[in-house]
Amino acid sequence: MSTVETIKVDEEILLRWPSMADAEELFKLIDTNREHLGRWLPWVDAIQSLDDEKGWIETTAAAKAKDQEWPPLIIYRDSIVGAIGTDRYFDPLHKVCGIGYWLAVDYQGRGIVTWACSAVINHLFGPLGTNRVQLRISPGNERSVAIAQRLGFVFEGVSRQSWLVNGQFLDMAVYSVLASEWRSRGASRA
Ligand SMILES: CC(C)(COP(=O)(O)OP(=O)(O)OC[C@H]1O[C@@H](n2cnc3c(N)ncnc32)[C@H](O)[C@@H]1OP(=O)(O)O)[C@@H](O)C(=O)NCCC(=O)NCCS
Repeated sequence: MSTVETIKVDEEILLRWPSMADAEELFKLIDTNREHLGRWLPWVDAIQSLDDEKGWIETTAAAKAKDQEWPPLIIYRDSIVGAIGTDRYFDPLHKVCGIGYWLAVDYQGRGIVTWACSAVINHLFGPLGTNRVQLRISPGNERSVAIAQRLGFVFEGVSRQSWLVNGQFLDMAVYSVLASEWRSRGASRA
């Protein structure tokens, strides 16, 4: 399988790989969204400097080399606005893949992540032959739960105190969609 370089979600949204040239813009975005992101994501605290951000960019290059991730940066109207990742959650043996995502606060409310997920899921159920895509979401994270529901994921149950975020153990609700259930979204975001 050849590496996917970009995924065009629609006329405004593109997913692409980061390069070191993106490090400063990305770090600034995370730094200015620290409170918004840190509430739900365990990795935010670990990004404290430009070098930390460069470290993440290096890990994406490794995932790209293994052909185990899709282009993670979400570009909206030519600006970096967030990311959607699959690498850490990819289990080729069982054809299962998890998705994680984040979006800068100012870009919420436009369907950007819902449609970016939809495009990634189309690819996962396509070339990679994934059978199950899963999301793990803290039940209190209403915006993220709404994404799972909008995309037709099925709620399976709660994995108790399975994430440590800001020194607190959070329950995680598990959602999934199977290849046999997934319908191509068909429509455009607009
Ligand atoms: C979770 C998160 C990505 C959700 O962002 P979001 O903007 O609500 O999600 P989307 O980009 O899919 O946009 C959906 C919103 O756009 C609206 N929207 C507008 N046009 C739309 C369209 N064409 N299609 C779908 N939704 C559309 C929806 O109504 C919804 O807004 P509402 O909830 O106010 O009704 C964001 O809040 C975030 O990054 N949070 C912090 C990190 C985090 O929690 N990550 C997930 C951990 S599990």
